[in-house]
Amino acid sequence: MTGLESAGLTDELGEMIIIEMGDFVQLFAESFEIASNADGTDRAPEVKPTCPRWHELRKLPFVAEPYPTLAAARESGPARVIGELGGAPVWLVTRYDDARAVLAHPAVSNDFYDAPWWVKRARELGIAPPADDHHSRNLPLAMEDERHVRARTVLVKAVNARRVDAVRPVVERTANELLDALPAGEPIDVNARFAVPLANTALAAVLGIPKDMALTYPGWSDQINSHMLDPQTARVAAGKFYGFVAALMQEKRNALADDVLSDLWRACDDGILSDFEMHGLVALLLHAGQEAPAAVANGLLSLLRHPAQLAKILSNPSLLPSGIEELLRYESSLAQALPRHTNGPVELEGVTIPPREYIIVSVVGANHDPARFDHPDEVDVTRQARSHLAFGYGTRRCVGARLGTMVATIGLDALLTRYPAVHLAHPDQSTPWRPSTFSRRVESLSVVLAESLLDVGPRSPLTSSPRHNVSSH
Ligand code: HEM
Repeated sequence: MTGLESAGLTDELGEMIIIEMGDFVQLFAESFEIASNADGTDRAPEVKPTCPRWHELRKLPFVAEPYPTLAAARESGPARVIGELGGAPVWLVTRYDDARAVLAHPAVSNDFYDAPWWVKRARELGIAPPADDHHSRNLPLAMEDERHVRARTVLVKAVNARRVDAVRPVVERTANELLDALPAGEPIDVNARFAVPLANTALAAVLGIPKDMALTYPGWSDQINSHMLDPQTARVAAGKFYGFVAALMQEKRNALADDVLSDLWRACDDGILSDFEMHGLVALLLHAGQEAPAAVANGLLSLLRHPAQLAKILSNPSLLPSGIEELLRYESSLAQALPRHTNGPVELEGVTIPPREYIIVSVVGANHDPARFDHPDEVDVTRQARSHLAFGYGTRRCVGARLGTMVATIGLDALLTRYPAVHLAHPDQSTPWRPSTFSRRVESLSVVLAESLLDVGPRSPLTSSPRHNVSSH
């Protein structure tokens, strides 16, 4: 049963949104499932052993430790073909300057309905015909040009600094309440029990999601992310997720307030957004907002794996705000930007990517480029890292960057202030990264909350981490 049905709201538009977005998610999922299952047999004559293949991007050991492979790819050239999607080559870009050039390039498009493989496959399936007037073209992921500028203008205005700053007390209070409820001295999953509820409470406060609905959707959003493994599961999850979006907006309709979702209704009432676009933007905000829990978990993980850096922050908490930028750079939660395709030739340092081909920009590759960041594979909380690409670049730079940064800063500050001797519950185990082409997120992060070294027992958190612990930085 979809969220819409359970709320008894089966209006025609809601159903249409669920079906269309379900199609969209499935098609998106299928495209990457097919491509990433090609396991090296796809046409890729230029692939060098120094470059990861398309199907490897979501698999261990690459996901566990992508940086050496990405370093080799960076050194081998500005862009490499790593596989194909429906006959069109897929290029990987790993250098910082090239990543920025691609993300801001006028001949690079996000419009899936204009992408070569997509158009062919959609026609075969008889869904989502790429006609200009088809409303699926207005889905945020598929937006380009005037549509994107129009929608983004509404979003940027709605998710403004005043609104984000206003929820700071809510985020601080929530962080402390969550910590109050967590047991010290025993292993807990700090991702599920702290990062996810904290970030989603913050998102709900800015967006204006009623309290009882605030934690309903993250699970479905997660399942949509699992589309790489199972398009059918992704489609079912998409039905529930978009059903929730429709139910949520029905609820908001009669209770407009000073919040983001109300502004989206206002933009719709003013004729700036269509109903369909408005629902698509809500879905995008809820889905994209799931990067914030990942920023909390990845940041904590990096500190726990680098005790000397954790010690610096504990002895000088004023380092945290700029240190967050470094943590975002070091383990960026969106590992690869969403796929783009070319509408014209794109020149990168002597390599030309022809029109009608795909490009994957490796955010983690760019953020570890030694040409931009000294000793990029070291985490250094005193580094000036603000120019990182963890929030993307150009016309699609993250709309929620201020909120995401605030959540990560408050979350880590509250946790480390109360439990400065927090440590990994299983320091000898490798990090359980999720298999995903695009996200860099942990399945769980098992830690023990401890107030002082005396609570920790024989193993000090400042000496216990196995990976990277050899480094003194
Ligand atoms: C620390 C947490 C976050 C990180 C690391 C992050 C990262 C990113 C990145 C890398 C992009 C660009 C993707 C691309 O170019 O393919 C992006 C876009 C976006 N993000 Fe975030 N994000 C975070 C939090 C949020 C939050 C909390 C929201 C919601 C309020 C949000 C909303 C968006 C939206 C709407 C876009 C699309 C912008 C557009 O297409 O014009 N993000 N984000």
